[in-house]
Amino acid sequence: MRAISQAQPNIALIKYWGKRDAGRNLPAVGSLSVTLETLWTKMTVSFPGGVAADTLRVNGRPDEAMLPRVSRCLDDLLGTARRPAVVASECNFPIAAGLASSASAFAALVVAASAAAGETREVLDLARAAGRASGSAARSLYGGIVELEAGADDIGLTALASPADWPLRVVVAVTERGPKPLGSTEGMARSAATSPFYADWVGRQHDDLAVARAAVAARDFERLAAVAEHNCLKMHSVMWTSRPSIVYWNRTTIACMEAVRDLQRGGHAVFFTIDAGPQVKAVCLPESEAAVRSALAGVAGVQELLETGLGEGARLLERA
Ligand code: PMV
Repeated sequence: MRAISQAQPNIALIKYWGKRDAGRNLPAVGSLSVTLETLWTKMTVSFPGGVAADTLRVNGRPDEAMLPRVSRCLDDLLGTARRPAVVASECNFPIAAGLASSASAFAALVVAASAAAGETREVLDLARAAGRASGSAARSLYGGIVELEAGADDIGLTALASPADWPLRVVVAVTERGPKPLGSTEGMARSAATSPFYADWVGRQHDDLAVARAAVAARDFERLAAVAEHNCLKMHSVMWTSRPSIVYWNRTTIACMEAVRDLQRGGHAVFFTIDAGPQVKAVCLPESEAAVRSALAGVAGVQELLETGLGEGARLLERA
């Protein structure tokens, strides 16, 4: 059987940085994210028989670097006695550049693989499997605004608002195209071991999540903006104060943050967030989108703008 799925990346407004259990890839903190709409990964999986080992193609080319992570995720989901898989992924945005391509990839992978193996699984079960491969991927199983609870035993997930409930817009300023210098797993381990701020970061996450959750429930953009920027800067402070220091920003990243601050002073409903890469994601209300687009397009060094609303969770497109 062959199955094709689609998943979109998600952007955390309250960030995940740090693991409680590296072996099970369980996060040290909860997080809250928005699932995007127009950026996607489409994943085709089959278990044809007569194939010696798993194969992976990404955008038409064999990808040996990513293959071991894909194989581990399939073993975890289906057991090691499974047949070798033929996996092909297509992605319409830059990969491994801080745009959450691994989130959409693993969310799409678990959906397609379980369908291709003839299984029917609960969404939470699939989300947990995706999360063991890439922590943030669990959130892409759900649409709209999503909260991931760190949980005592395993993660839990709640969709807080659908895309229609609160139609936020996201303008992504791509400031650099190359892959990021340090993967998030290595970065998180370094931060936990060396940043003097790490314990505080973990200890205060509960408070930021509570504020963000309440802001979403009240559709209070200003409150969400304030806590999201604060949480983003706190995560980057932990990164910067790790040893050796982890700096994902470039000068265009900072120029984009300043442009967002200018827009805020001009009365626009917008805030920035930045992940493990130099791209700046400006989250805004629809009425401010045109102003956000034109301000970020005018920042020297911005290579491309991607604009999107909020979208649905990972889903099966076809099974044959
Ligand atoms: O899921 P990972 O291992 O790629 O880690 C994601 C970490 C951040 O993107 C920086 C924050 C987040 O919550 O998505």
